[in-house]
Amino acid sequence: MGNSAEWIAEASTVCRIADLAARDEEVLLLAEKRAADRQHAKGKLTARERIELLVDPGSFVEVDRLNRHRCTDFGMADNRPYGDGVVTGQATVDGRPVCVFSQDFTVFGGSMGEAFGEKVLKVMDLALTIGCPVIGINDSGGARIQEGVVALAYYAELARRNAHASGVVPQISLIMGPCAGGAVYTPAITDFTVMAGETSHMFVTGPEVVSATTGETVTAAELGGARVNSEMSGNVHYRANDEQDALDWVRTLLGYLPSNNLDTCPEYASTADLRLGERDESLDALVPDSPHRGYDMYRLIEALVDDGDILEVQKDFAANMICAFARIEGRSVGVVANQPLCQAGVIDIDASEKAARFVRFCDAFGIPLLTLADVPGYLPGVGQERAGIIRRGAKLVYAYAEATVPKVTVVVRKAYGGGYAVMGSKHLGADVNLAWPTAEIAVMGAEAAVTVLYRRELHAVAGTAREATRLRLVREYRERFATPYAAAERGYVDRVIRPATTRIEVTRALRLLRTKRQELPARKHGNIPL
Ligand code: HXC
Repeated sequence: MGNSAEWIAEASTVCRIADLAARDEEVLLLAEKRAADRQHAKGKLTARERIELLVDPGSFVEVDRLNRHRCTDFGMADNRPYGDGVVTGQATVDGRPVCVFSQDFTVFGGSMGEAFGEKVLKVMDLALTIGCPVIGINDSGGARIQEGVVALAYYAELARRNAHASGVVPQISLIMGPCAGGAVYTPAITDFTVMAGETSHMFVTGPEVVSATTGETVTAAELGGARVNSEMSGNVHYRANDEQDALDWVRTLLGYLPSNNLDTCPEYASTADLRLGERDESLDALVPDSPHRGYDMYRLIEALVDDGDILEVQKDFAANMICAFARIEGRSVGVVANQPLCQAGVIDIDASEKAARFVRFCDAFGIPLLTLADVPGYLPGVGQERAGIIRRGAKLVYAYAEATVPKVTVVVRKAYGGGYAVMGSKHLGADVNLAWPTAEIAVMGAEAAVTVLYRRELHAVAGTAREATRLRLVREYRERFATPYAAAERGYVDRVIRPATTRIEVTRALRLLRTKRQELPARKHGNIPL
């Protein structure tokens, strides 16, 4: 009788609420305090602190806080912390829903096990069901060793979700600590990867394995630090100064993106002033008279977009190709531009792959493309040919050709050879093609063309007369072909415009194209050269 009374007292609503509070306290106070002590000592934030900095204050709704693993091997039965090393849930960023998972390195090294995997898959599935971005914050030792093949299975399950979500909802990865082994491949499938300062590393095999297998001695930073991954491998789209900076960048990025492929991007009420301003006028002097001198393409981009504001993607990688989000009349655009100040804006393998992925992202999510061309062509050289510039350079051609979003192109100066064709030409499906009077649309530059076309004639001329003849031929070629007019005669450019009017022309073109609808033939999927 007494036992029964005790049980009734314990089962009272008051006791049950107290029991829930104790469980929450275990997670939110005690475990969080332990996590903070360990992470802060390493200059890192906790999984929960990162989420709080990412999302709108008070908007995070955690799910599966009380999940625990069911593993009994390696003494795990006595160590079953709530949450199992990952914090998951939904929240809002600027009032729009997002799903988040944030790995907790202080629980089993943030490693992936069965319960952990189930939690991550649940928010991924939710994001796909409701159509919102997924943000994954990585800080993990990879597959949980104690759980064996089950851990591997969940990585593969996650990669499958990543692939199915690709082009449906934006996926963003933050690397805030270690990310090693096969675990790197799920961030790599996502649309954007951000690394934070000195505390993050990303590699397929760590320094010890590299040393044991190849004999190379390398530090973790040299192998897969933020600098290496942003400047050399191109795995990372933004190298942040610290975790706060990384999270801020992601918030800003989300502001340019729709929630899913059927949604529209956030729009800001803004109507462009279509009268010429001082900044517009300055564009008339942007291109130097000498074809050998560069100029800064950022000056043109900033003159065309709202408030001169851009969010650059892969800024530290292939600087000869600029890829950036911006807004024109409050609406998102993706800007793809050659940078004459870096390798004369030539397209090499890295530039092609960087821009191709950006173009495909914009196309998948309905973001119009603005292309600014000043390109001497694809980069010649043994190294590039052997590294596959044919296959890898083809990616950009393919990406532009399959993109059905509004496409506006401005040829600023050079558009030679394959560079002309690929940088948003009419023939790859651009809707509005503009050219400055300084545009040179031709198979190649005058000097190279004369060398090829008149080799025999030039050899036949002796002494100083040869140089004079060469210069005359170069001048004639320039006058005839190094202009936009041969292309304009054929309608390959729609309008040759005064540079100062570019902002006005581009704004009008994008207004015109707001209702663009284009469908390609139905198919399972294309086969882009990989
Ligand atoms: C279980 C792990 C773990 C893991 C770390 N821990 N990684 N537990 N499984 N994979 C635990 C540690 O035992 C330790 O527990 C705590 O996390 C912190 O780890 P430390 O080693 O003390 O931290 P640190 O010195 O900072 O080193 C971090 C590290 C190192 C570089 C990540 O832990 C490490 O090398 N871990 C193994 C990495 C790895 O090889 N993972 C498998 C990759 S293959 P205690 O109790 O002492 O605090 C993979 C396959 C994916 O992921 C397949 C996809 C298809």
